[in-house]
Amino acid sequence: MAHFDFDRVIDRRDTDSNKWRKFPADVLPLWVADMDFPSPPAVVKALHDRVEHGFFGYLSDPNELPGVVAERVAKRYGWRISPEAVVSLPGVIAGFNQALRGFVRPGQGVLVQTPVYPPILRAPGNHGLRRDEHALTRGADGRYAIDLDTFAAAFRPDTRAFLLCNPHNPVGRLYGRTELEGMAEACLRRDVLIIADEIHCDLLHDGRQHVPIASLSPDVERRTITLMAPSKTFNLPGLKCAVAIIPDAALRERFAAAASDLVAKINVLGHAGAVAAYREGDAWLEALLAYLGANRDFLVRQVRTTLPGVAVAPPEATYLAWLDCRNAGAAARDPYTFFLERAKVALNDGATFGPGGAGFVRLNFACPRALLAEGLERMRAALA
Ligand SMILES: Cc1ncc(COP(=O)(O)O)c(C=O)c1O
Repeated sequence: MAHFDFDRVIDRRDTDSNKWRKFPADVLPLWVADMDFPSPPAVVKALHDRVEHGFFGYLSDPNELPGVVAERVAKRYGWRISPEAVVSLPGVIAGFNQALRGFVRPGQGVLVQTPVYPPILRAPGNHGLRRDEHALTRGADGRYAIDLDTFAAAFRPDTRAFLLCNPHNPVGRLYGRTELEGMAEACLRRDVLIIADEIHCDLLHDGRQHVPIASLSPDVERRTITLMAPSKTFNLPGLKCAVAIIPDAALRERFAAAASDLVAKINVLGHAGAVAAYREGDAWLEALLAYLGANRDFLVRQVRTTLPGVAVAPPEATYLAWLDCRNAGAAARDPYTFFLERAKVALNDGATFGPGGAGFVRLNFACPRALLAEGLERMRAALA
């Protein structure tokens, strides 16, 4: 395996990084979902070559991305789609908002599972839609599960879409085939559109396999808009490049019509970076996953042995850990502010993830081990 150095600490404080510029210089940022690792060398080279070319005119349409995506989902998930099914987008958030705009009328409902990534939580409200909520069930060991009975009961007669997040941010679950089938059946029975945010689908631990919900059956595929991107996987979120996969032509046309020239197409650098990442980034990805897996194990061990009252279940996917601080003494009431002020560690406030999030924080462990160790040590000292 080629060697990639994920231990190297690179100072990003004086760069344009939102992660590093949001808080004062003495705060260690373990919040927003971008990684403190440079993108794969193949991506950097492709971008360099593209810049050297010196022309930044309109991107060709069609371009290379749809074919590359179709090849990738066939290879990684055994999901066969035609390149025409692939619609490029500047981001996954833009994608699920465009879908809601196109398919749900004001006053109708959208089902989300809480706690959940804040842009998913607020998406229905962006379009005058009602948010219907299904609470994920937290087990005694901190692992979350889906209760299919309460899931079915969460639909109202005019719930028109289900906004799934799989792998799930923030709880770190990768849903298995049985859970996905249960959710898909409940949606099909009511003719509810499935909008699947699968942006974290390549960031899996312990050799797990992702199942795109649309790949379950032709019936599910016909009623699903799948959103994926190279942005989390290869650390390119600032390049603004994502895709919607919509095999059903009528669904695809209605999705496209909802943008009505408002949602920008991808840009030439995003396209170059995405194509290089998907074509040439997998050796780097494999090495990244080994590093992230070890970071996760280190984190879980440190939390359990050095942060009294803080509980965590090992995430199955993503580089995000969901820390239950409800029994953590002085940190219990508002752990986000406690760790920001007393430990100088910036996390994401669990309360912003909706019901079930108060008393939790989300920690991003996609950084060199030394930074992660420093953050956890600061948190230990603040609690002591
Ligand atoms: C579940 C989920 N969806 C979407 C996004 C952001 O997607 P984009 O930057 O492509 O809009 C994130 C980023 O953290 C995420 O975790």
